[in-house]
Amino acid sequence: MPQIINGKEISAQIKEELKEKVAAMKEEGISVCLAVIQVGDDPASSVYVGNKKKACAYIGITSLSYELPEETTQEELLKLIEELNKREDVNGILVQLPVPEHIDEDAVIRAIAPEKDVDGFHPQSVGALCIGQKGFVSCTPAGIIQLLKRSGIEIAGKECVIIGRSNIVGKPMALLLLRENGTVTVTHSRTKNLKEVTKRADILVAAVGKPRMITREYVKEGAVVIDVGIHRNENNKLCGDVDYDDVAPVCSAITPVPGGVGPMTIAMLMNNCVESAALRQ
Ligand code: GUN
Repeated sequence: MPQIINGKEISAQIKEELKEKVAAMKEEGISVCLAVIQVGDDPASSVYVGNKKKACAYIGITSLSYELPEETTQEELLKLIEELNKREDVNGILVQLPVPEHIDEDAVIRAIAPEKDVDGFHPQSVGALCIGQKGFVSCTPAGIIQLLKRSGIEIAGKECVIIGRSNIVGKPMALLLLRENGTVTVTHSRTKNLKEVTKRADILVAAVGKPRMITREYVKEGAVVIDVGIHRNENNKLCGDVDYDDVAPVCSAITPVPGGVGPMTIAMLMNNCVESAALRQ
């Protein structure tokens, strides 16, 4: 049977490390503060935001919560971000996405000062990642790199195939694997002979957004399989983009859903907040 990559355990370990670091920073008079903004009351967003605030409290990060009504105008939101950009005590600003349709998401992302862009979504953060300069990195792909490293999986020289090319996962994932000296291929909905390409992968990252699409036909024997998807199946149980029961027997390591990539996203967000506060000094 494959190695099960335990994201719950690894994220807990990272959060413990951060908790100690934040306590040590407090001794030196440095505090860490994240502003979390949610516009509207999308139930899924409320759960994510709640989990982020809980993680802050656990680690010792102050969280400022802004729950704005659905009707909030873009101007009002940008004004709030501008105020938070100026505040000395705020180290990170997070606007939970998606925002309501009448608000331009790109304008919101661009409004956040890059030094407080703990989501790593600002064009400057993405550009910095692209050319190997310092900057915040999107939390889910950063978490996947931690999962691989802390599970003793070598990336350098490996064939890495990513399924999905989103700005939040697929593209930054490609840049991070490249930074770790992987040989990287990004596939997407227009890729021809997808199975042939994914079968080359030593490390396969599935971020397709289709429940259990990736069966063993897509996977090389002995590959490492990372599942970014999260869906509910017909029995209302959580499942990923990977058909776990089908794929697990043929791979060397795999992330489960839940308890794989999911918990890492928040751990890396916390890491970015702590880093932002440390860098400010
Ligand atoms: N919506 C879904 N995932 C994310 C995320 O990582 N950050 C933000 N800001 N919004 C999200």
